[in-house]
Amino acid sequence: MSWYTEEQIEEVRISNDIVNVIGSYIKLKRSGSSYTGLCPFHNEKTPSFSVNPARQIYKCFGCGASGSVITFVMEYENYTFQETMEALAERAGITLEKQSASTAYKEQQNIKMQLLEINRKAASYYYAKLKSQQGRTGYSYLLSRGLSDDTIRHFGLGYAGQGGGGLYSYLKHEGYNDDILKETGLFKMEERSVYDKFFNRIIFPIMDANSRVIGFGGRVMGDAKPKYLNSPETKLFDKSRNLFGLNYARLGKNKNIILCEGYMDVIALHQAGFTNAVASLGTAFTVQQAGIIKRYADEVLLTYDSDTAGRKAALRAIPMLREAGINARIVHMEPYKDPDEFIKEMGADVFRQRMDEAENSFYFEIGLARKEYEADDPEQNTKFYHAVAKKLLDFEDKVQRENYLEAVAAKYSLRRDDLKNLVVRYGNLMPVIQTEKSQKTAGRNIKTEDRGISYSYKLLLSIIIERPYLYNQIKNIIKAEDYFGEPYRQAAQMLYGQLESGEAVVPARIINHFTEADIQNTVADMFQTGFDADMDGMELEKALNDLVIRIKEYSIDKRTRELTDINELKGLIQEKKALQTPAKLHIYLKDG
Ligand code: UTP
Ligand code: MN
Repeated sequence: MSWYTEEQIEEVRISNDIVNVIGSYIKLKRSGSSYTGLCPFHNEKTPSFSVNPARQIYKCFGCGASGSVITFVMEYENYTFQETMEALAERAGITLEKQSASTAYKEQQNIKMQLLEINRKAASYYYAKLKSQQGRTGYSYLLSRGLSDDTIRHFGLGYAGQGGGGLYSYLKHEGYNDDILKETGLFKMEERSVYDKFFNRIIFPIMDANSRVIGFGGRVMGDAKPKYLNSPETKLFDKSRNLFGLNYARLGKNKNIILCEGYMDVIALHQAGFTNAVASLGTAFTVQQAGIIKRYADEVLLTYDSDTAGRKAALRAIPMLREAGINARIVHMEPYKDPDEFIKEMGADVFRQRMDEAENSFYFEIGLARKEYEADDPEQNTKFYHAVAKKLLDFEDKVQRENYLEAVAAKYSLRRDDLKNLVVRYGNLMPVIQTEKSQKTAGRNIKTEDRGISYSYKLLLSIIIERPYLYNQIKNIIKAEDYFGEPYRQAAQMLYGQLESGEAVVPARIINHFTEADIQNTVADMFQTGFDADMDGMELEKALNDLVIRIKEYSIDKRTRELTDINELKGLIQEKKALQTPAKLHIYLKDG
């Protein structure tokens, strides 16, 4: 998070020559076009640390540390990006509205601190209300839903009373002004009066992973609409990056996480002893949330509602989880709607049994596809075959894929050979996956694949930087959209942009677009990966063309996987065919 403009960052970078700056920390010796020295980031006796003045970047061939002058100071001094900017600006005698910049930052931090404080007070206020005489409706509602006093306290549940301004008066009395109260999202501010957003509702405080209250959900106690109201996103509350219940779920020793739809589900599950349950926050599940879950678990038990909406939501979540390297299984709760109802009716033991019987996400997806495409309509049936074939390619292990193919063919009376042919056809579009994933370890395969492709990205981007005259040929085959994942796509976009505008390529400038040291590191690496220096021209040309094809194949594969319409397959097959006519797409080293 930077509050400096790109121009300011660039100015600081340009005014601090990398050799000068690093040279003031460690001893550097000229060697050809670069400088070398002992790496300050690991212990060594012979220098493997190299600084390149032309590119304004450094790299250690021993430990892999790399980056721009800003990265260096960040890592060496253990400064934040902001502190580094201040230090380097001072060193170069630049005043970059440094004053206002850091005041702006402090101001933001200050607002966040205040919002946290207000949220904490609001949560206590609602909790106290629930426990007071005025809160009896709310309290008995929660008891009727089977919650114990312990559970109510554990989740800090509360009650917003009938009147429309109780919280507002309370917080005003505590000394907060309207400007900050507005930022909380807890009030409706009108010209003449202010109302509490929540009234006559049960309050669910939403906490971040560190148990700090960042927002609220509120449920009506009857059938009124909307059933749930949620805080809007605020400076504190990012719905896509938080999960209800995670503050407790992450503490457990469980290897899996139970993912459900509602606040009440999470609470009922925790009360029943399943303290590894979380839910998204009144919005659809996001890739960021998948990434967060992956920090704590390799498997997710999906307990979405057993209605059409719930199944749809599961179908959306499964691929996101898969992409994050998480194996998903589906817990069926029929004839009940959700975990809360299930546990209330059947108890925790039966729920645990259902968890043990959770369905593998592949069978779940195929089962729903079968229902979607009517079996007695030939065209629909064809679509079903295609859907199954594509899904089978999710199994990288050939034996496993074959087993599933047999099983699913038997289960749905599919013509095994036809299915197999389709799998081969789709599979031919995905050679990268087949070769790279052969060294798979369960659950980790996506990572392996990504490491492979990211290395290819780094290599190609370095080549473009080293030999900008190749850019015109390369861009015809590999566009910025052919890079998948960050920071690669953004770096490619910036590099392509610089080349398009005819500017000189400045790797350090692209690096500084990213403000976290480890990402800067990755990006810096992109610009100095390079082929083996010993290759002769012909070898180099071949390696380059292999590389380009590999990246293109990966991109075609990615798009094939995300394909929703069979007709698009034709286009992809054509792109793929074009790749096999090397004469057309060949990149010539001598060009230009
Ligand atoms: P559900 O409608 O499934 O509610 O919504 P629920 O969790 O079963 O709640 P109870 O048992 O009736 O009390 C699931 C989740 O979707 C969001 C909420 O986060 C809720 O927990 N939601 C639902 C809303 O944000 N707004 C709504 O109007 C309804
Ligand atoms: Mn429910």
